Amino acid sequence: MSRVNCLWLAFLAFLPCVHLQPLANEVSLELVDWECRQVVGLFNWNKLREIVVEYADFESPLAMTEFTEAALVLQDPEARRTAFQECPIGAIFLASLNLGICLHRVMEEVTECEDVADFLMASMFRREIPLAVILTSSWPVRSPQKMVFLYERGSHNLSTFWHSLQHSPSLNCEDDEFFAGFLKDLNWAIGQGESLVGKLSKWLFAPKVQELEMDQLRQSNWEPPCRLGWIAIMILKASIGWHTEPRTFFTYAESLRPYLMLLSPWHFLGSSWFLSMLLPHVCQFHRTAFHLDFDQTELMAETHPSLASMLLGSPAMRQSAQAVLSHARPYVVRGEQRLLVYASYVWGEDYVRWLPAYVSRFHELGMHNLIMFCGDETAYEMCRRVEGSACVFLETKTGLHRYTIPLALMNMGVDAFVIDFDIYAFKNLTEKLIVELESYQETPEFLVGGSFGDACICNAFAYYRSTLAVRDFTRTLLAWLYQYPFPHGVTQKALSAFLGEEPMQKTTGSEPWVVKEEILVKQLPPVPRLKWSLLEPGVEFSSSRKLATSGWAGRQEDIVVYHFFHGGWLASESAVDANEPWDEFDIFYNLTCEDTVEACAARREARIRRLLEKSRLGDRRPPTNISCETLEVIDFTVTPSDEKGMDFTVTANSPSSENL
Ligand SMILES: *[C@@H]1O[C@H](CO)[C@@H](O)[C@H](O)[C@H]1NC(C)=O
Ligand SMILES: *[C@@H]1O[C@H](CO)[C@@H](O)[C@H](O)[C@H]1NC(C)=O
Ligand SMILES: *[C@@H]1O[C@H](CO)[C@@H](O)[C@H](O)[C@H]1NC(C)=O
Ligand SMILES: *[C@@H]1O[C@H](CO)[C@@H](O)[C@H](O)[C@H]1NC(C)=O
Repeated sequence: MSRVNCLWLAFLAFLPCVHLQPLANEVSLELVDWECRQVVGLFNWNKLREIVVEYADFESPLAMTEFTEAALVLQDPEARRTAFQECPIGAIFLASLNLGICLHRVMEEVTECEDVADFLMASMFRREIPLAVILTSSWPVRSPQKMVFLYERGSHNLSTFWHSLQHSPSLNCEDDEFFAGFLKDLNWAIGQGESLVGKLSKWLFAPKVQELEMDQLRQSNWEPPCRLGWIAIMILKASIGWHTEPRTFFTYAESLRPYLMLLSPWHFLGSSWFLSMLLPHVCQFHRTAFHLDFDQTELMAETHPSLASMLLGSPAMRQSAQAVLSHARPYVVRGEQRLLVYASYVWGEDYVRWLPAYVSRFHELGMHNLIMFCGDETAYEMCRRVEGSACVFLETKTGLHRYTIPLALMNMGVDAFVIDFDIYAFKNLTEKLIVELESYQETPEFLVGGSFGDACICNAFAYYRSTLAVRDFTRTLLAWLYQYPFPHGVTQKALSAFLGEEPMQKTTGSEPWVVKEEILVKQLPPVPRLKWSLLEPGVEFSSSRKLATSGWAGRQEDIVVYHFFHGGWLASESAVDANEPWDEFDIFYNLTCEDTVEACAARREARIRRLLEKSRLGDRRPPTNISCETLEVIDFTVTPSDEKGMDFTVTANSPSSENL
């Protein structure tokens, strides 16, 4: 109800509305087809999207005359509603275009364009669509909102309306020294083009801004001294968080919401704060694949799929089902026999060339129940060439496969051990897994790796027992991540936040497990409490010393699986490219060299021992209760680079173990 009261205030941008609702904390298990691949209605939305994406680089709505006809359909309120129901982001795109065309036509009488303007603002900011979904979907909503001509009209006084808006002393906060100074630099920086954040960091990190942020958090009815300027600062700070720390991003995105809900379209599009041009900075360089290969029901429905339905499902499901039928192996825990598969996923040429050796290593150790999920054609071809392999082809490359894969497998009634590609197995994992599961009073249903130097989890290895609780937990986690897209790293942070801090403890033996959870947002959706614990992070399931918090301790012969931690593995997900050499793959998986077989084997063994030794940190892992958040970002520089436009270099006090 309170939201309805807020709506009519939309044009009175300065009236605070105290009844704003917090972001819903229930997560919908529906994986919305935001890109509208499957939607035909007013338009064939998929076709329309594919075409507009090709024109995505146009500078103003004028260049988009191709789409005038489609945009004009949104003139009609009924059509607008239908469009939004069918394809919300497509409707936002068309409404932006329609508004651009309308504003271009009228010089002064912007009231003519008010209806579609309000529809646009309502669709974007008052409908519970997370900002990142709008900004990372492949619909190019940012292009038509860049209405440069509005600024030209204002600055040349061609339109009294835009001129007075852009020269309003109160909107421009002329009597506030700080904001007036920031506005001046903001205008200069916009004129200079990219790397806005770098040019404005003096303002964004000013003590004054930190004070205001604290006030905002502490006081419930707080009003910023300069509303539009404050929105601009929050947008830019959200964009810094987007590239560094999810928790920061989610905090800013949440704080921004009430402001955006009340923002007037004219202030958004044509004020001298350039808000519609700043907004796309938030999720720069990131595209989310709103498509997960498996169908909605294959992941989210709690049904026991019959063989027939598995064989009629999505291509990914059909192949997974075949792989399970031919490769799942029984294992016995406390007298109960169940089915187990290992699963890993891979794409990209730098990794794929090691795929045959990776699969062969599992086979060599007796684990023939490995299923490889292949994110590109080459990976799939390479996989199929290995004798006895099980390969599934995936069309999409997304970090969310970390959870779609175990879900699809669990839904078929199989337990899944999901393991990263940048690992090397030293021992028969199944044997170890059984020992682990039996060393607790009650059998855990979820086991996950841990971090050496702090009390965090590490999901390079995770065992999912197909129980109702684990399936429901994983579904909610996946749905949340789908609803709140974020670049690399967040899949693990979210898992940590969902799991909490109470792992099961072993009945006998070692130090108690201490785990600290990550905090992403204030409220997470409810999930079942799992019976979960850690895979021993000191030596058995350890990681190479690539981060301040990783490494291992003890004896090499006790290592079961070694995670050599290849940074940049999710390069396709992120703006940051970790330019590291690919050495470890060569050391572990290259069985050939320019010598005899025996000499090569000896050389390989020696190199492995040396490599392991470099990451060894004493005889045993010291107990730790250090939590896993990255510390405050102390330096943020933006450097121009080649074809991507620019790259972010971020220096933090302490690298987080999640910056994989
Ligand atoms: C510019 O526009 C303003 C209204 O914002 C008007 O009062 C003023 O006379 C105009 N100035 C010129 C030089 O046209
Ligand atoms: C691996 O361990 C499992 C469980 O103990 C056992 O059934 C299997 O035979 C082992 N494989 C090899 C090759 O040792
Ligand atoms: C393994 O090493 C040899 C010799 O250094 C090299 O020629 C070969 O390309 C490497 N194999 C792979 C898969 O990169
Ligand atoms: C962490 O451990 C230290 C030393 O045992 C203890 O003093 C401290 O209170 C603990 N901190 C937390 C947050 O549990």
